[in-house]
Amino acid sequence: LTEGDLVERISKGENIPDAFVLPVEHRPEVCLTRSSDEIPIVDMAGLEGEKREEVLALMHKACLEWGFFQVINHGVDPSVMEYMKQQVEEFLSLPMHERAPGGIRKGVASQGYGTGYVKPDTGARDWRDYFLLRTYPESMRDYETWPNRESFRDAISKYTLEMKKLAERLLECLSINLGLAPDALKNALGELHQDLLINHYPPCPNPSVAVGANKHTDLGGVTCLWQLDDVVGLQVLKDGEWYPVHPKPGAYIINVADMVEVASNGIYRSIQHRAVVNPAKRRISIAAFYDLHPDAIVKPIPELVSPERPACPSVRFGDHAMKLAIETDKVGKKVVD
Ligand code: SIN
Ligand code: FE2
Repeated sequence: LTEGDLVERISKGENIPDAFVLPVEHRPEVCLTRSSDEIPIVDMAGLEGEKREEVLALMHKACLEWGFFQVINHGVDPSVMEYMKQQVEEFLSLPMHERAPGGIRKGVASQGYGTGYVKPDTGARDWRDYFLLRTYPESMRDYETWPNRESFRDAISKYTLEMKKLAERLLECLSINLGLAPDALKNALGELHQDLLINHYPPCPNPSVAVGANKHTDLGGVTCLWQLDDVVGLQVLKDGEWYPVHPKPGAYIINVADMVEVASNGIYRSIQHRAVVNPAKRRISIAAFYDLHPDAIVKPIPELVSPERPACPSVRFGDHAMKLAIETDKVGKKVVD
C-alpha cells in the first residue's frame, strides 16, 4: 500500500460499524508524514558515565516540554523482550475462547481479555482488543483471567519484572531532576500496583473516523510503552497539536502520568495522548503502568510547594481510577450490549 493508496482509501471513507464512528469533532487527523518535531530520545547508557548530568538534563527538559520521552539503552534484557514479543504474537493468534478464558470484558477496569470499550466523551468504541492484567504485587495476579499457557505466563512474569526495574530507575531520575532525594517519588506513590496492558489494533478500513485508543492521560505514576511493530499509531498532544511518535526498534516511550503530576505539584504534567489506527496493518503495543494501591493518597511533595506554587489538591488513587471505570461502564452498558 503506497501513501497515495492510503490517502485514497481514507478519503473514500469505507464503512465501519456505527458503534466505532466518532463524532466529527473527535475524529483524528491521520498523519502520514514524519513531523519535524519529535519527542526526545534519551540514551540511558549515559547515566552511568561522565554524561550523567547531560542525560538527566535532557530527561528533565523532555518532561517539562512534552511529558514524554523515548529511552534507548534502557537496560531491559533484550532476550526477555524477544521472548515476550514471540509469546504475545502467539497469544493473539489463538482462538478467542483461549485468549479470554474468563469471558470477554467490556469495562476498561476489569482484568482479562476485552474488546473496544466506550469512552464517555465520545460514546464511540475504541478500535482495539486488549489484554489487561495486574502483575504486582504478585499476590494480586488473577490467574483465572490469564491464558492457561505456561510459556506465556513465564514471559509475562519475566517481562513485568524488567518493567518494574525500569520504572523504578526512571522515578529515581525524575526525583533527582526535581531536586529531591532519589527515592522521593517512589515513596510518594507507595506500593507499586503494576498493570500490564497489551493493545491489539486490527487494521481499520476507515481510520479517519475511528480511533484505536481515544485521547486520555494515564492514571498512575509513569508508563513504559513498547510499540512492537513499525506501525505509527501513538500521538501526543503538544501546544494544541497532535504529534505522531515514530516507533524506534527496541525503544520505550515513557510518559509522566497523573500521580507524578500531583506528587510533583504540577511541575511535571500528565499529557494527553491517543492511538490512531492503520488501514492496512495491525499494530501491537504493550504498556506497563506504575499504578498505586487504591488507598494510596498522593500529595504534592512538600519541597515542591512554595508561595509561588501553592499545593495542588491531594488525590486518593482508588477514587481517581474509579472515575474512569464508572463513567466507562455506564456508557459501555448502553452501547455495547
Ligand atoms: C494507550 O496509551 O492507551 C495506548 C498507546 C499506544 O497504543 O500507543
Ligand atoms: Fe495511555
